[in-house]
Amino acid sequence: MKKDYEKQIQKLLKKMTLEEKVGQLQQCGPSLVGAFEVSFEELLDMMFDGRISQEEFDKLMGTAEQDFHEEDLRAGRVGSYNGIGDADTVNRLQKIAVEETRLGIPLLFGYDVIHGFRTVTPIPLAESCAWEPALWEKTARVAAEEATAAGVHLTFAPMVDVAKDARWGRVSEGAGEDALLNSAYGAAKVKGFQGDDLAKEDAMAACVKHFVAYGAGEAGRDYNRVDMSMQRLWEEYMPPYQACIEAGARAVMPAFNDLNGVPCTVNSWLLRDVLREKWQFDGLVISDSNAIAECVAHGIAADKREAAKQAVIAGMDMDMSSNSYIEHLKELVESSEVEETVLDEAVGDVLRIKFELGLFDNPYRTDKEREQRTMLKPEYRALAREAAGKSIVLLKNENSILPLASGTRIGVFGSLAADKGQMTGAWAIGANPDDCVSLTEALEARKISYRYSADSADMQKTAEESDVLVAVLGEMKEESGEAASRAEITLPPEQLAMVRELAATGKPVIAVLFNGRPLAISQLDKTVPAIVEAWHLGVEAGNAVLDVLLGDVNPSGKLTTTFPAATGQCPMYYAHTNTGRPGGKSKFTSKYLDAPVEPLYPFGYGLSYTSYSYKELSIAKLEGALGVTVTVRNTGEKAGDEIVQCYVQTPAAKRVRPVRELKAFAKVTLKPGEEKAVTLKIPYDSLGYYDWDMKWTPYEGKLKVYAGGNVKDTIEGEIQLS
Ligand code: NOJ
Repeated sequence: MKKDYEKQIQKLLKKMTLEEKVGQLQQCGPSLVGAFEVSFEELLDMMFDGRISQEEFDKLMGTAEQDFHEEDLRAGRVGSYNGIGDADTVNRLQKIAVEETRLGIPLLFGYDVIHGFRTVTPIPLAESCAWEPALWEKTARVAAEEATAAGVHLTFAPMVDVAKDARWGRVSEGAGEDALLNSAYGAAKVKGFQGDDLAKEDAMAACVKHFVAYGAGEAGRDYNRVDMSMQRLWEEYMPPYQACIEAGARAVMPAFNDLNGVPCTVNSWLLRDVLREKWQFDGLVISDSNAIAECVAHGIAADKREAAKQAVIAGMDMDMSSNSYIEHLKELVESSEVEETVLDEAVGDVLRIKFELGLFDNPYRTDKEREQRTMLKPEYRALAREAAGKSIVLLKNENSILPLASGTRIGVFGSLAADKGQMTGAWAIGANPDDCVSLTEALEARKISYRYSADSADMQKTAEESDVLVAVLGEMKEESGEAASRAEITLPPEQLAMVRELAATGKPVIAVLFNGRPLAISQLDKTVPAIVEAWHLGVEAGNAVLDVLLGDVNPSGKLTTTFPAATGQCPMYYAHTNTGRPGGKSKFTSKYLDAPVEPLYPFGYGLSYTSYSYKELSIAKLEGALGVTVTVRNTGEKAGDEIVQCYVQTPAAKRVRPVRELKAFAKVTLKPGEEKAVTLKIPYDSLGYYDWDMKWTPYEGKLKVYAGGNVKDTIEGEIQLS
């Protein structure tokens, strides 16, 4: 039950000076001082362009002194910190806020807990391939237990930016290209992070981001413009944010990008009309890092002062890192350019979340002892391994070469096989590389005979002495995530050369891919008989991959993102509309001269060590929803989990609509030879759409319904809706 803190908020607001109010809206992070002769930004660049290694960078960071802006804090000029995840520092700063500031208002500590804190679980894109909300919620709970033990109150997650362009680096941080999946994923994460009562010491507030349509940046380039119809925005991009707010998310982060010409940071339609009025959201709105000041570069504000004014008027409560509010807001209110009531509303939102988290009664929600005993518990690692196993997608398995028979002599190739630090993927700032298990370590631990070759010198010899060759390929963790868009999403030439050399030995080659986005792997697909898509799986990566290679886990993951055949096909996604001339044999159809029009692997696709068949699709009109029943049979010899997917098409709509849209899914466990009738519900409301005039229109007419194990491979039925 949500409690009402309005009286306390108003009472406190009355006591606050203008400066103290503005202070509550200020979020800063620790700054680094001394130690280097170059700026922090330059140092980061040096790491990214290879002038220093990640290890050297980490070492420098570890030794650098940090400035926590304590003088500002004492003066009531800090309301929140970002990026501090250790109980002692959090409590030390909290003590200053509570005991040494005039009003003793506690601090709010935010942190990017994206896929685990210390027990790093699979990147969101990987975990989404499990199609399992209960699992998503459980891993979020573990993340919250660890992060709150380290002093975190608020996570900047979940990211539910629908991402249809594989060039964008941040596809790794969300649940793929589909609105329904992102909605289910986001809602589960919110529940897992927040639990049932935010005031509990292990509850962490969720900040859904990046509102809105950040994943639709033009050309897949990060931070880029988003210009789209309102129909498309509401049908394909808005639903996941709304689902998270309905699930109770207490914070929202507007996106860096502009939406149809107005940056989300200062977009009052978005932050007031939609978020506050339409969705009745009364939580905290916090800017993305430096985003308020960046409105100047967008060309929409003359300077930071103007940007601060636009942002607060638009409904932005808290300023992350840009210092625009702290530098200008007091004066903007004094000069009556911003009404004090507008400022009070923003401060009220900050105080409300602090009350809800119980910080006024219990500002120190953790201590070092709890922090130490909470991290990496065996049951957390077990869950991380389960999640990793369920995230793996088997893309190819000719002649059932996998799983490997016991006694097979395994040759392992490629540096990623032994690079434990790479297993976490993007956004794992609380991680310790030593916690991760690489594939070679997993082989060692299980005492499996293998040979490993990281360079070409002994490759031939290793291959000769092995029965199968496991080529570990993909992307480094820095190649996906923020500011990591790629113009070419193929494998690097050296990796492809290695695969060709291995294939030339005549021994079967199994490719294991560690990557943070879909890759265009047509070359690889032509060269090897088996491909295991392992993404970036977190601390248990090596064990989980080995579980699948050896058949201890029967793979069940299915793609939540289309794998294009060539980069030039991007953006590529299953729920596209048709042209009047769909790609076909004839020249004058919508296609490419030099690439296929079809993807390499479709949405929803993934193999298993068993096989399934679908039959008897029936559709019933139930109360409030269509009931689609389909019988699924395990036709192979191993027990397995099948992800049953249900799509629709609305051929009689008044606007051109997607060729297929996912409307429901379920995971079923089937023994060999077993069959089950599965009923999936499609709420009638979910079949509606926006007409030309943006009027929500219930769908009427013939509805085509498809069910199957991926978007291409389905059986179908139809029903008339009136
Ligand atoms: C920038 C990123 O866009 C956002 O996702 C993240 O939460 C903030 N920085 C804070 O680190």
